[in-house]
Formats: sequence, C-alpha cells, structure tokens
Amino acid sequence: MLILGIETSCDETAACVLEAKDGHFSVRSNIVSSQIKLHARWGGVVPNLAAREHLKNILPVIDQALKTANIEPDELDLIAVTQGPGLIPALLVGMTTAKTLSYLWQKPFIGIQHIEGHIYANFISDKISSIPKKQISNFQKNVKTEIEFPILALVVSGGHTQLVLMKKHLHYEIIGETVDDAVGEAFDKVARILGLGYPGGPLVSRLADGYGPEKNRFSLNLPRPMMKTKDFNFSFSGIKTAVLYAARKQEAYLSDPDFVAEICQEFQTAVCDVLVAKTIRAAKKFNPRTIILAGGVSANQALRQRLGEAIAQELKGVRYALPEIEYSVDNAAMIAAAGYFRWESLNETERSQLKNNWQELEADPNLKMD
Ligand code: KG4
Ligand code: ZN
Repeated sequence: MLILGIETSCDETAACVLEAKDGHFSVRSNIVSSQIKLHARWGGVVPNLAAREHLKNILPVIDQALKTANIEPDELDLIAVTQGPGLIPALLVGMTTAKTLSYLWQKPFIGIQHIEGHIYANFISDKISSIPKKQISNFQKNVKTEIEFPILALVVSGGHTQLVLMKKHLHYEIIGETVDDAVGEAFDKVARILGLGYPGGPLVSRLADGYGPEKNRFSLNLPRPMMKTKDFNFSFSGIKTAVLYAARKQEAYLSDPDFVAEICQEFQTAVCDVLVAKTIRAAKKFNPRTIILAGGVSANQALRQRLGEAIAQELKGVRYALPEIEYSVDNAAMIAAAGYFRWESLNETERSQLKNNWQELEADPNLKMD
C-alpha cells in the first residue's frame, strides 16, 4: 500500500511516500522544506509568514516526494495529512492541498492528529534501541514491530508535554501533561534569554553536551519543578524563569562562553531529571511493556540516553523505542505511518467513504487525540 503523507502544521513543509508491504514500512521519499531561516530573525514562528511559505513550497515538495519515490499519482492508495493541532494558517495549506488532490485524483483522504503522528514515528523503523531482536511480534494485520502494548509514550514537542498510555492502537489516555510551558518551548525560551537563536533545542543541547560536567565553574542550581509530586503532570516555566534570573543576576558573565554553556547544561539536566523521574514513576504504576519517546525534543541525545539508562536500571523487561532522528522532528512520514494504522482500523464501507472527506474534513488548530 502506498501513502502520500503531508505535514504543514508549523514551520516545515513536508511530504513523503510511505510504502507498507510484507510487514514493513519503507519510506520511499521523505522531503522536508524547513522555514527555520525565515523565522529565525523574528525569534519564533510567524503564522502568516509560515502560511505564505507553505503555499510557495507545498506543490514542489509533493512533486519531489512523488518523483523521488518514482510513483505516479494513480498508484497511491491513500493521502494522509495533518489536520491539527497547529497554526491554522499553516494547517489550511496542507489540508486544502490534500483535499484538492483527493478530489482530482479520486483518492481516499484521511486527517491525522499531529501528536498521534509523532507517536507513530516510532513504528516507521524496526530498529529499536536496547531491545533484543528475538521477540519480534506480529500485530495489527501485517506490520512487524518490537513495540508491544501497553505503551507508555513520553511526548515532548514544541507545543506538548504529555505522558500517554496506549493499551492498543489509536487509543490514547493522557495520564499527565504540562500545566504551563511545553518542554520544547522552554528550550526555545532559554535559548532566547541567552541570545542563542531559534529554534533553541538543538542550540542549547549542543552547548550543554560540549560542556564537561566536571567544569562546574559557576555552581548553578536550577529547580526541578513538580519532580516529586505524586501526579504525572509537569511544569517547565519555573526552570525557564530561574534561567532568566540567573542570567540577569550575573549579566556580566553572559559574554563568558563557559557561563552560557553551564546554564545550558544545568537546564538540560534539570529537564531530563524531571522527565525521566516522572516517566519511570508512571511506568511503575501503569506497567507498560514498551516506553517510547515522541516529538521534536526526542531528538535530544541526553534525554534519549538518560531515559534508556533509567529504564534499564529500574524497570525489568520493559522495552524502549525511539524514533530515528529524522522522524523525531516534524516530518510527513510519521503522518503517513499514523494514516496506515487508521486505515487498517476501518472496514470497507468506512474506507470507501474516505473519498468524500474532501467535502467534510476541516483543519482544527486545537484537535485532540481520540
Ligand atoms: O515536534 P516538533 O518538531 O514541533 C512541534 O510539534 O512542536 O518540536 C519542535 C521542538 C522545538 O521546541 C525545538 O527546540 C525542539 O523541538 N527540539 C529540541 C531538539 N531538537 C528539536 N529540543 C531539545 N533538544 C534537541 N536536540
Ligand atoms: Zn511536531
């Protein structure tokens, strides 16, 4: 089965062709046109500028995805597009394009929730870290995976921080979430405070990873908000504010690269401490068979490693899955992968009705996971 995936919820115009065959996904093409340079001078994504850029790029990106995959439109079985959440002017471009193509090509068309896409990024590859290959299971008709249910997903993106329990495919129970900033948002704000640029996550983590913990010249000590509370919620705005105060109090040091790097390192460590502690505590209560990471911050090496170590030490026999880096940040392959599982869950009548979706489905900037 061949799926055209389309993603335009924020600042990446992305399209892919994903093939599901013989129990495996094969990403035939994965094209991402990033707008980072355009938005960097504003310190964040400007929705109307993003929409204009998506409009300019969406057809060339889809064209390139089809050509790279060597696919003609009539060979496609399904179009999957991000329906929400996201910036409405940006979402409308992807949705309208998908509707138009669905109508013209007479193809079924399905709307995907963006975070659901991030979760399903974990299913694109069979490579799962630190899990022995021997127990490959067969699930949901025909895609093989080592990911077993129940799944506990730590979702960490620019707009979301959630712990999600999945007892089966496409069923999501949010057991905890941030009460203020998302973790990616906190990375971006800290980068702004330190004058590092946008997007902050990769910039902060690069400095943090390059600074040896043994250095500790400034003895910075940031808070770990809500780390010990019994619920599974998070709070990141306090850490960000503490960074702001530390930077203000010792402003003279901001020109010292060691000071900036030490803030980045302490910030990243504080964030990982909280995320890892809460995920492990949630796992002890809900007993998942697999823990997965999802969302743009899952590209963070320290988090990938620290969570893996904690699972190995504290949770016997629990599997750990990670998306490959290119599927961690926004992309269309994850949307197509989620589209595949939605398609698999439908009967013939429901599938045939997807051809009429171009008349009914609307972009929704606040779309929730079912
Ligand atoms: O999932 P994503 O691409 O977009 C949303 O759905 O929000 O996530 C973007 C977020 C940004 O806040 C970005 O700074 C963060 O992910 N991010 C990272 C890293 N790479 C991207 N945060 C920490 N470390 C990284 N390596
Ligand atoms: Zn995202």
